[in-house]
Amino acid sequence: MEALQAIFGRRSVRRFQAREIEPRKIETMLQAAMAAPSAMNEQPWEFVLIDRKDSFERIMQVHPYAGMLATAPLAILVCGNRQREKVPGNYWVLDCSCATQNLLLAAHALGLGAVWTGIFPEKDRMRALSEICDLPAEVLPLALVVVGYPDGPRPLPADRFQRERIHLNRW
Ligand SMILES: Cc1cc2nc3c(=O)[nH]c(=O)nc-3n(C[C@H](O)[C@H](O)[C@H](O)COP(=O)(O)O)c2cc1C
Repeated sequence: MEALQAIFGRRSVRRFQAREIEPRKIETMLQAAMAAPSAMNEQPWEFVLIDRKDSFERIMQVHPYAGMLATAPLAILVCGNRQREKVPGNYWVLDCSCATQNLLLAAHALGLGAVWTGIFPEKDRMRALSEICDLPAEVLPLALVVVGYPDGPRPLPADRFQRERIHLNRW
C-alpha cells in the first residue's frame, strides 16, 4: 500500500475478530516502528508484546479507555528506555510517538486494525503497566497499541484538513 493511502485511510479500530495475527505481520509492524526517526538517531524504544488474557484483564481494570482489549488478540506496549537516550530530556516521548504512529500505519497497511491507547503521561497507568509487564525502572511505557483483524467494516477515512490552520511566514 502506498504511504499516503495508509496515512489517509487509517482510523482507530476497536473491535477485533477472534483471529491470531501472523508472526510475519507482527514482525513487519515492529520493523516499521523501529524505522521511525528519533532525536540524534537515539532509537530509545523497546516493545513488549502482550497476548495473555489475564494481562488484558488487569490492564482493563486500570485503564478506563482500553475496553477494546476484550476482543483483541495482541497489544504492543511501546516503551522508552532512558538508558538509550543520547539527548537528555523528553525526546524519548517524541521518538516513541513516531514509532507508535509507524506501528499504526503499518497495521493498517497490512489489513489489520489498531488503536493507540494512552499510557504516558498518566502516572497511574504508567505505574500499572510497568508492574503488569515487569518493566525495569529505566523503561517507561508510552503507548499501548491494541491490534487485530477488524471485526466489521473499517471506519471511513476522516477528512480533517483545515486550511485556516496553515500560516504563511507569520501568524
Ligand atoms: C496520545 C493518544 C492517546 C489515545 N488514547 C486512547 C485511548 O486510551 N483509548 C482509545 O480508545 N483511543 C485512544 N486514542 C485514539 C484517539 O481517540 C483517536 O486517534 C482519535 O479519536 C481520532 O480517531 P482516528 O484514530 O480514528 O482517526 C488515543 C490517541 C492518541 C494519539
